[in-house]
Amino acid sequence: MVDRAVRSVPVGGFNLTEAAKAAVMRVLDSGRLSYGPVTREFEQEFARRHGLRFAAFCNSGTSALQVGLQALKILGGWHDGDEVIVPAITFVATANVVLHNNLTPVFADVERQHVSLDPERFEAAITPRTRAVIPVHPFGQPCDMETIMEIARRHDLRVLEDSCETMFARLNGVSVGAFGDAAAFSTFAAHVLVTGVGGLVCSNDIEVAQLSRSLLNHGRDSSYLSIDDDNGVGGAALREVMARRFSFEHVGHSFRATEMEAALGVAQLADADGMIAKRRAIAGGLTAGLEAFRDRLQLPTVRSDAEHSFMMYPIVVAPSVHRDDLTFYLEEHGIETRPLMPLTNQPIYERLWPGLEDRFPVAREINRRGFYIGSHPAMDDEDVAHVVATVGDYFAQKR
Ligand SMILES: Cc1ncc(COP(=O)(O)O)c(C=O)c1O
Repeated sequence: MVDRAVRSVPVGGFNLTEAAKAAVMRVLDSGRLSYGPVTREFEQEFARRHGLRFAAFCNSGTSALQVGLQALKILGGWHDGDEVIVPAITFVATANVVLHNNLTPVFADVERQHVSLDPERFEAAITPRTRAVIPVHPFGQPCDMETIMEIARRHDLRVLEDSCETMFARLNGVSVGAFGDAAAFSTFAAHVLVTGVGGLVCSNDIEVAQLSRSLLNHGRDSSYLSIDDDNGVGGAALREVMARRFSFEHVGHSFRATEMEAALGVAQLADADGMIAKRRAIAGGLTAGLEAFRDRLQLPTVRSDAEHSFMMYPIVVAPSVHRDDLTFYLEEHGIETRPLMPLTNQPIYERLWPGLEDRFPVAREINRRGFYIGSHPAMDDEDVAHVVATVGDYFAQKR
């Protein structure tokens, strides 16, 4: 109990450099808070880092998913009630955005080792009403994207990658976000890049990108999305801008972010390689230390040909271990934990689809046996040692 005050190891953490703080101050001094040069720089550099042509910054990963899916729905001419497949383990937002788009989420089970969409289960869930799939790259690692893309293309389905937990990670040299028709990333606190709140909707398809950006801006005519868009415009062109700049073509949203969040994003992108290296080192230290408990803990492994950015460190306990007892012990010793993204047993999902959890046996087990701890750049070797020692003490005490 006492240790809780001695050392705290939160699930998320980041290092805010002096350069990042100065960048926010420059924005404040500039007098320009709405979408402008800093956001454009963030969008371009983020897209470049992920091998993507277009990125639009917005106020959350959920907003990015919401408009990415809405854009695909509009462009594909889908009907309300059409089906979108989502993994049975993910953060609730992945499935919520399907409902918010008046579409039907259809769940498919995950595979055990990496806890991501099982391609076979995905294919088995496809019906004549399926229009899209939202594969999730969980915890910092790409899911089995090549197989999922092959199945999706064969069934003529659109693919929206939920990469809210994963950035700067490639599978066979291709970055997360660059496989599908669109992708969403999150920069919420405790994610890989942290801007407080924030998200990016990305695509290599200009139509999807333009429509998503418009939908973030109330569905406004794409010719006027920034207050700079009429700078230096005169004559007939000014008449044209004036006619279109208050014109709304879709039922959109107010999902904009500000130049302040973008400034944090730009500053953190500059340090991204070091930050990812730190996350991998922390995760490596945890695995080396927890290896001794392999018979009781399933530790994360990196898929062959993949990179892992370790937004967090996921663990699944063996049936012999009482997950809640272990996580309570860790919390008592200052180590924050969260369940491993349970979805099918959330009260709201159980109310909407009674008995949902029992239909997905792997997810059901992970709902009971999975949890995660931090693996972030604000941790140090002593934090890692504290986690390893606390887990060791717990098992020693159970002997
Ligand atoms: C898989 C997944 N999707 C979507 C989101 C939503 O991102 P945000 O919190 O930025 O809306 C999260 C956030 O935790 C997530 O983990």
